[in-house]
Amino acid sequence: MALRKIICIEDELLRKKSRPVEKFDEKLHRLLDDMAETMYEANGVGLAAPQVAVLRRVVVMDCGDGLIEMINPEIIRTEGEQDGPEGCLSIPGRRGMVKRPMHVEARFQDRNGEWYEIEAEDLLARCIMHETDHLDGRLYVDVMSREIFEDELEETED
Ligand code: NI
Repeated sequence: MALRKIICIEDELLRKKSRPVEKFDEKLHRLLDDMAETMYEANGVGLAAPQVAVLRRVVVMDCGDGLIEMINPEIIRTEGEQDGPEGCLSIPGRRGMVKRPMHVEARFQDRNGEWYEIEAEDLLARCIMHETDHLDGRLYVDVMSREIFEDELEETED
């Protein structure tokens, strides 16, 4: 495993649409392992492949219940609403308030190409929306209602 460089908001690669994964091979497995290591090292809860300059539909997440790898994720259904603070490893030092669905159902493939469905709520639902947005070149700053300023951060950080 190896750490990958996380690219930042100025990089136009973050604005591109990622392509589906077609080969579930050793190269994909290496990418997934590297992405997980890179995410944990950066203390993130999610990382999408375009953030390490790979334009493929691959995300990793860990919202506290263990590592989840999603390849070619698709949102099937959303319900409800939550408003909360969000950050991004590609936008260091900033946070914003973002409205997301409270409940998300998604389908995705695992590292071997097997299809799964997941029902997620709260933070995991938020994380799935944030990470799948990355795959379409969308960042949270595009959809946030407002920036969170430093003097507020102590109240909102959890
Ligand atoms: Ni992000």
